[in-house]
Amino acid sequence: MSFDVAAEAYDGFMGRFSAPLAVSFADFARLPAEGRALDVGCGTGALTAVLARRFGETEIAAVDPSESFVAAMTQRFPWADVRHGHAEALPFDDHLFAATLAELVVHFMTDATAGMREMLRVTRPGGVVAACVWDFAGRRAPQRTFFEGLAAVIDDIDDETDRVGASEGELVTLLWDAGCTDVEEAELTVAVEYGDFDEWWASYGHGVAPAGRQLTALSAEDRDRVQEQCARLLGTGPFTIAATAWAARGVVPGQI
Ligand SMILES: C[S@@+](CC[C@H](N)C(=O)[O-])C[C@H]1O[C@@H](n2cnc3c(N)ncnc32)[C@H](O)[C@@H]1O
Repeated sequence: MSFDVAAEAYDGFMGRFSAPLAVSFADFARLPAEGRALDVGCGTGALTAVLARRFGETEIAAVDPSESFVAAMTQRFPWADVRHGHAEALPFDDHLFAATLAELVVHFMTDATAGMREMLRVTRPGGVVAACVWDFAGRRAPQRTFFEGLAAVIDDIDDETDRVGASEGELVTLLWDAGCTDVEEAELTVAVEYGDFDEWWASYGHGVAPAGRQLTALSAEDRDRVQEQCARLLGTGPFTIAATAWAARGVVPGQI
């Protein structure tokens, strides 16, 4: 799925969640002490920033298919090796990285099996490959209240529950099947505060991700109805939205 939106729109929508998630995700991944790290599907750089703090700025590479995100990344992280590309055909040589991570990306890959194999290919033996995806199937993603409001107004919504990696154990299976050893899974939870309902609602209005896209495709009348439904569910605020992701990490087999 393409993310042809401004970096600032993404930051105000999912970036609020992906920034704190990146810290827990990197902790969970038990990153090697040194080497290079790759952020696959880097978006606007939430995880890139964390990896840079842990590995050092000059050791970081990032890749994303979105032109607007790659442009923003190049400005924000001029020292990083930022490239345009897809997980399914990573534009990097074999065994380059000590750690290759994908935060909130697997469920958007057109071929998650190929994407995961590519993540292993570019990682050195003994290196770490890790991924995380919101628990859409368990209704614990940040967008769950929005999807509830949307479903009350229109039929056949895409609430992302069927996407690869959005259920317990799916990322683990992908990592094993790609050839990782020592695969482990965990739940990662973050909480984000909103000053009021309007702040929360505005973040959906920029057409970011399946939630924002479905909203902006509606008539003005239906948008108002979704807003009313969501306001009924959330109240005027302030409130905190907690969200939980499934995360899995594995080790690339072979001699270091
Ligand atoms: C929800 S955003 C996550 C961005 C970032 N990792 C974060 O945690 O904020 C999903 C990202 O995956 C990227 N993406 C979509 N399809 C992809 C693919 N096949 N390979 C790599 N990245 C992809 C999108 O462009 C977008 O930047």
